Amino acid sequence: MSYLQQVDTELSRILEMEKKRQRQTINLIASENYTSKAVLEAHGSFLTDKYAEGYPRHRHYGGCENVDAIESLALERVKKLFRAEHANVQPHAGAQANMAAYFALLDYGDTVMGMQLAHGGHMTHGDKITFSGKSFHFIPYGVNRETGRIDYDAVERLALEHKPKLIVAGASAYPRIIDFERFRAIADKVRAKLMVDMAHIAGLIAVGLHPTPVPYADIVTSTTHKTLRGPRSAFILCKKELAHEIDSAVFPEMQGGPLVHAIAAKAVCFHQALQPSFYEYQKAVLDNALVLATELKRLGLNLLSGGTDNHLVLVDLTPIGVTGKDAQEALERVGIVVNRNSIPFDTRSTWVTSGIRLGTPAVTTRGFRQEEMKTIAGLVVNIITHLDDKGIEAQAREEVSHLCGRFPVPSIE
Ligand SMILES: Cc1ncc(COP(=O)(O)O)c(C=O)c1O
Repeated sequence: MSYLQQVDTELSRILEMEKKRQRQTINLIASENYTSKAVLEAHGSFLTDKYAEGYPRHRHYGGCENVDAIESLALERVKKLFRAEHANVQPHAGAQANMAAYFALLDYGDTVMGMQLAHGGHMTHGDKITFSGKSFHFIPYGVNRETGRIDYDAVERLALEHKPKLIVAGASAYPRIIDFERFRAIADKVRAKLMVDMAHIAGLIAVGLHPTPVPYADIVTSTTHKTLRGPRSAFILCKKELAHEIDSAVFPEMQGGPLVHAIAAKAVCFHQALQPSFYEYQKAVLDNALVLATELKRLGLNLLSGGTDNHLVLVDLTPIGVTGKDAQEALERVGIVVNRNSIPFDTRSTWVTSGIRLGTPAVTTRGFRQEEMKTIAGLVVNIITHLDDKGIEAQAREEVSHLCGRFPVPSIE
């Protein structure tokens, strides 16, 4: 019996149920992954007990010599991984990393450009319901209605019109390569700073399978738990000239003491990402996404931008008359977990939506390859084109269960 079972049977029971759910469902959520046992071990360690406000060798607490070594190791590794001049590994999560980047560069009320939510941007890129949209004057940009791709000419026109102090590039639901060099050229035309939020594609960038934003952006923010396959956390990279602004924006402006256990887990994540096998993993993520996209299209679904260059696929459900919410719920009933997603120019609310987003990082970690992706595409199409058909659902549930049985979740089994 584990300590947790002895101390708290109620919570322990819920954890067991979650373990079972993770084992028995196919996870196509593009922003999730299964991190390694080594990352889990560091994250679940006694480091959680240590306070360490400040930075290595400049702490407000005693007893920080080992914490200094941990944070220095994480910093060294992440700078090597992304060839960055300066890094900060203290932000607790992606939203905090973005908040710190804004604090470092902006005054309240400043004009900023960010990709709008329905076109693939993240909420913290200016959505009115978040601190970003409340604190700064965001001008949203988006994709071209016909191509589904970022309309760089329109971005440039908007920049010339509004003269933003900062342009934010990066997305949560954009299936194509982002041209960071073009964003830099646009920013330079209006003397704006450029911030890139690479949260989704950080793993691909780490191994060179997506162009890096580091030479072009003044600040790069990222989470560590998506394609990068680390703990649920974040980091910031920047040019040397902005090092002081970033560090003081993270602490003390935005956060108190760092989560030392999370920093240790990030150090492990960066170490694993520096290994040659990480390239093979990211290549498989891309291959799987391409097979998934090709098969979904062959089976008649409409994909935003017509396909994918990265780890995710966005399905426009409008032509089949199904909402994102209904599709998500039907798929969940058979054990396929996805998220509903707004699509560009969506006429439905963000609660209902007209799309779903599917990603391959987690299933690839689990060992799924092209054959399994074809099977999954078939199941997805069958379910969402036969909503509430109990017979088809029962058959799909059996296939999902068979697949999950063949591919254990590495961090749990
Ligand atoms: C592009 C992007 N930035 C930031 C975030 C926020 O990360 P977190 O949920 O860790 O705050 C996300 C999360 O989905 C994201 O996709």
